[in-house]
Amino acid sequence: MSRGTTKDRLPDGQLRFGFMWLSSPTPTATSKAVADRNPDSLDPATQMDLARRVEDIGMDYVFFADGYITHGENSARIGHAQPHISAPIYAPVVMAATQHIGVVTTMHTRYLSPGVIARLGANLDALSGGRWGWNIVPGWKTPEAELLGAPTDTDHDLRYKITTEAVEAVKTLWASRGEHVEFHGEYHDLRGSLIGPHIEQQPWPCLFNAGVSAAGQQLIAETCDFAFTPLPDDYSKVRKTVDSLAERTEAAGRNPLDVNMAGAVGVLLGKTDTEAQEKFSWVRDSLDMGAARDIATELMGGSETYQENYEGEFDDIARTLGLACGSKVLVGSPETVAGQLLDLHRETGVRGFMFLPVMYDAEQIELMGEVFPYLEKANVWTPPAERGWSW
Ligand SMILES: Cc1cc2nc3c(=O)[nH]c(=O)nc-3n(C[C@H](O)[C@H](O)[C@H](O)COP(=O)(O)O)c2cc1C
Repeated sequence: MSRGTTKDRLPDGQLRFGFMWLSSPTPTATSKAVADRNPDSLDPATQMDLARRVEDIGMDYVFFADGYITHGENSARIGHAQPHISAPIYAPVVMAATQHIGVVTTMHTRYLSPGVIARLGANLDALSGGRWGWNIVPGWKTPEAELLGAPTDTDHDLRYKITTEAVEAVKTLWASRGEHVEFHGEYHDLRGSLIGPHIEQQPWPCLFNAGVSAAGQQLIAETCDFAFTPLPDDYSKVRKTVDSLAERTEAAGRNPLDVNMAGAVGVLLGKTDTEAQEKFSWVRDSLDMGAARDIATELMGGSETYQENYEGEFDDIARTLGLACGSKVLVGSPETVAGQLLDLHRETGVRGFMFLPVMYDAEQIELMGEVFPYLEKANVWTPPAERGWSW
């Protein structure tokens, strides 16, 4: 077993694909029936097997979401996002099973100091041979801040200001490679030298952020490599987000291709369209509406992004959010889903997707792999091996 190969950034305009990790019995659908059919999310052997499959089909990175609290009693009862594995603890299991795939972990700047993030991140980057990515989350849930003893009176934009400075502090620590650091910001004040191992990727590990508020976009434009956006049915909203991010990125002195705006998209595949639709009906009928309503209340209440993107009857919103955490769900055969991805890419300008599998069984992963050859034929995707496993 070796650590793996260091990933380079390659802003080539080709599509990139991420995979929302199986961090709980069912990370996506609020369905006990789905949780019962998914592989065991706590078992390292299962995680290693899944990681190899996901790498083999040609995914670019796996994405570990993270948090500290449940979505509520209903979610917990059915295994939706509970128990939820800790990203930096389980990421090494995936790293040990793979050679080339990127492994992205969420770490919240509201709960972890820049020194702790720099240290955990450098270890994860070293352990994986330079394949680690940080999903920068400011931390937006008041009950979570209360649990962790973090201040609860910081508003949305202030949280991004604090986060932006935290990222600067983390990068300063990484760049120092153990030399003495003096960092005196408005919100973070630190001095000293950080023990190794040091980061492998240069100039620093790959940075992700999922914000699409103005403050989130600014952070992404200035410093991130990947951004996420939900994909509501109205593609013009996504196009606006993509265009405004490109403008901000240019204004920040970077090439718009340096930031990959990825659409977070639910996927449910079948060998045929009919089979996929049957699975979709089965999942939709099995949704726990109590849990779905809780998710909808939480997302609509706490996030500007979701408030902007979803309108309509509450139970309809809950059903949508309950299927794949609010993401649009693509349903069909590999050929059909490839066609839908191509449309989305062309109409919205997103240059990548993060798959949120509605179900995580081995057949779903295999069918995901059958999507890529259609994209290759359309000249929008190159197999990772042919582009040096670049981010
Ligand atoms: C694909 C995706 C993954 C996310 N992962 C997490 C996560 O793991 N933990 C978390 O607390 N928030 C997560 N979020 C929430 C975002 O960090 C962000 O707060 C949200 O998209 C709202 O954007 P805004 O902060 O700019 O308003 C995620 C959002 C998306 C779309």
